[in-house]
Amino acid sequence: MNKKGVIILGSSRNNGNTNKVVSFVKDKTGFDVIDLSLKNINPFDYNFRHKDDDFIPLMNKIVSNYNTIIFATPVYWYAMSATLKMFFDRITDCLIIEKEIGRKLRGKEMGMISCGSDSELKKGFKMPFVESANYLGMNYIGDVHTWIEDDCIPDSLKKELTIFSEKIID
Ligand SMILES: Cc1cc2nc3c(=O)[nH]c(=O)nc-3n(C[C@H](O)[C@H](O)[C@H](O)COP(=O)(O)O)c2cc1C
Repeated sequence: MNKKGVIILGSSRNNGNTNKVVSFVKDKTGFDVIDLSLKNINPFDYNFRHKDDDFIPLMNKIVSNYNTIIFATPVYWYAMSATLKMFFDRITDCLIIEKEIGRKLRGKEMGMISCGSDSELKKGFKMPFVESANYLGMNYIGDVHTWIEDDCIPDSLKKELTIFSEKIID
């Protein structure tokens, strides 16, 4: 099994705070990064009218090439970003019209990086990730909450991110 991982960045800006944290983890793990802001991914549609956008080819690439999938999201209004939520909603396509892709998610590992302005992450933020992993038959391998101070990752957080990085490459 190819153990290489991928970080899926769901920020509304590609050079922002979440990206700073993602770059740190990328350097520690060698994981690839996919920036959702550069993709054309439309909302879920019950008639699958968006099936020819970037989502299905992207998801196909992810399930074919990676064993570990780390979602990286800013905290926007106490929740994951709309960009990342749209990606999650579209996973529904893989349960209905692209079942082969959906089946390939089983047994893969999922983790999550959040980046807020506050060092506290409100209770419940992780639940959609943990439960989605359960539903999809993926193993949830953990998460780390981050924030940026004076445009930098605080030193104490760098230690935590290093531990997280070591855990996800295990
Ligand atoms: C629309 C919006 C909503 C936000 N809501 C929260 C929030 O609920 N909790 C929080 O800690 N920070 C919140 N923030 C701050 C961001 O999470 C924080 O600045 C983060 O580091 C931004 O990452 P980015 O540069 O990748 O967008 C919000 C920022 C924006 C733009």
